[in-house]
Amino acid sequence: MAGVEFHPVRVLAIEPLTDDAVSVSFDIPTDLSTLFDHTPGQHLIVRATVDGQDVRRSYSICSAKGATSPSVGIKRLPGGVFSTFVHDTLKIGDTIEVTPPTGDFTLTPDHDNKNRYVAIAAGSGITPVLSMIRSVLEFEPQSMFTLLYGNKDGRSVMFLDELDALKGAYPDRFVIVHVLSRESHEIPLFEGRIDAEKLERMLGTIIEPAAVSGWYLCGPRGMVDGAQGVLRSHGVPAADIHDELFYAGELTESTVAVDDVEGATVRFTLRGRTSTATVATDGAPILDHVLAIRPDGPFSCRSGACASCRAKVTVGEVRMDKNWSLSQAEVDSGQILTCQSHPVSDLVELTYDV
Ligand code: FES
Repeated sequence: MAGVEFHPVRVLAIEPLTDDAVSVSFDIPTDLSTLFDHTPGQHLIVRATVDGQDVRRSYSICSAKGATSPSVGIKRLPGGVFSTFVHDTLKIGDTIEVTPPTGDFTLTPDHDNKNRYVAIAAGSGITPVLSMIRSVLEFEPQSMFTLLYGNKDGRSVMFLDELDALKGAYPDRFVIVHVLSRESHEIPLFEGRIDAEKLERMLGTIIEPAAVSGWYLCGPRGMVDGAQGVLRSHGVPAADIHDELFYAGELTESTVAVDDVEGATVRFTLRGRTSTATVATDGAPILDHVLAIRPDGPFSCRSGACASCRAKVTVGEVRMDKNWSLSQAEVDSGQILTCQSHPVSDLVELTYDV
């Protein structure tokens, strides 16, 4: 993958969702509408210059399929550079840069489907799931959707009004179960976190796993891993379980290290140009060195989750700290996440142009 393509777009609306979350929608020019047509569950990367720094974040699209002005939900995070900028500085009418939608955590609606879907989401993990729910209810008239949605308390539930409106519009096809960790409920099952034990109790009482054709898990690692384990133990095929990790905290900016004088030689090709960096085996990841030389290098989350920084190793060997976004087949074919990779061999050659 060559570097991601950013397009300048106007901010069409900024609307409050909770005390600390807003939705931001973008005015996509007509000539880019095909490029920005998204499959429910995909995300886009938003870029702005904040205090002189190029800051990028990946946000899932929460609008239904076909929306002409896609929107994303952005929660204010303590010390979060980008979310603070969005909440305090960004205004309607401003121009901001975004990439076309990308991502494999998707649900493609089909008018003829008669499916039952279940999504398990926590906190901001609702955003890609909301797009799926809206799209299934609108485009699959014979399908049903159940959402298990975990939050701290009623005030922190993002998109509460939208979810209530969908429930009102599709009372027979949409079921929502709120699970709140810091609020008591007359039914204890709906209190606490959505962990493996709680899900185990829900299966067979409010959800019959055998009747479900697709599971969509979106939240922190503990919730996703726990749900995966429970579902697999109930015989749910891996192919029916789709997941995406979502973070409670904004990702820290890595330091761009240019002063590693000892280390491996890393030769990288980006958009046809090859450059060389010296990278310590236990220092900053390869991406940081790439950005020090080529600030146009591709990245977004810097945590192994989005695959924006994907490249292919052609010579040598690297190790990855984390990989939450490449499949085993992709890894086997030599692909790496440069934000997580460190050289193992003395010489590494890689290319972003794959
Ligand atoms: Fe997101 Fe590397 S920047 S996986």
